[in-house]
Amino acid sequence: MIQDGASPPAITEAAQALAAGELVAFPTETVYGLGADAGSDAAVAGIFAAKGRPSDHPLIVHVPDAPGAEHFAREVPPVARRLMQAFWPGPLTVILPRREGVAAAAAGGQDSIGLRCPSHPVAQALLRACAALQPAVAGLAAPSANRFGRVSPTTAQHVRSEFGDGLRVLDGGACPVGIESAIVDCTRAMPVLLRPGVLTQARIEAACGERLWLPHEAAGTAPRASGTLASHYAPQARVRLMDARALQTALDVLGEDAAQIATWSRVVLQTRSGRVLRRRMPDDAQEAARQLFAVLREFDQQAVRLIWIETPPEAPEWAGVRDRLERAAAGT
Ligand code: TXA
Ligand code: MG
Repeated sequence: MIQDGASPPAITEAAQALAAGELVAFPTETVYGLGADAGSDAAVAGIFAAKGRPSDHPLIVHVPDAPGAEHFAREVPPVARRLMQAFWPGPLTVILPRREGVAAAAAGGQDSIGLRCPSHPVAQALLRACAALQPAVAGLAAPSANRFGRVSPTTAQHVRSEFGDGLRVLDGGACPVGIESAIVDCTRAMPVLLRPGVLTQARIEAACGERLWLPHEAAGTAPRASGTLASHYAPQARVRLMDARALQTALDVLGEDAAQIATWSRVVLQTRSGRVLRRRMPDDAQEAARQLFAVLREFDQQAVRLIWIETPPEAPEWAGVRDRLERAAAGT
């Protein structure tokens, strides 16, 4: 059932349900999360089962504030402290050494843990209501509220279309960021950007006071993590990225006959038949991030077979959108 996330009684009920081991979906500024008490391995097992996600893929644990991270982290390295100070609450996840015996299932068996403090008012209200309960729920394990490998949800209705009406969903409207948090691994000698988000690399580096490394540059083996699989965030239709000219040519050649094509582009494409479902990609990267997953879902709902997307600009602020689109294209 979808409940108004702005309603205090709905928040209290949701916190009680979480304390009782149930799953609750809630909005964050990035995407909706499928939450469970991070301290309960049984509740967390419910997340893996509902998503169909392999249980060795670690989940992000959400905490109400920076001090809340101490419950889960054995140690908070200085670089992580600087990041938390700069960006929490907000769309940044830090990977820290995990405190032994805490949230093992949520961490997917890793000796590290991903921690994030979301800024969305409904997420904040829920985390605070959970912390106020006896016994306290210290954090919420919450992956994106979609089935494994599919497109992340950015509205309460998206969540319901993934899991049906049996799941409690707190409605907080459309997510203002639209793509998942940036993830920085702070457990190694140097900070590693595991997943780009809307915060640019330059902003994160300015806060770190040192350069960020990319996974392929960093020595050592990274844990298996679904958000970093090449094929992820995939809609049902086949996604292809093309530059504007190739896209127009493809439409000229094929689009006339082929129904069930959708396009997302910054340029205005010419079609003769009017059967092609065309959506405009915003010129602003943040606005494009906000719309990305809803557009892919809309195309899926229209049962298109091909999704042709204009390759986003190389500029650094587009890194998060580019990353999700490349994974969507790799997945189909
Ligand atoms: O914006 C977000 O981060 C959203 C909202 C709900 O907070 N959550 C999210 O969770 O995207 P999920 O489970 O879909 O992606 C979490 C990713 C994993 O795929 C993995 O890449 C990484 O976080 N992760 C979590 N714990 C980790 C760990 N201990 N070591 C390495 N990577 C980890
Ligand atoms: Mg996900």
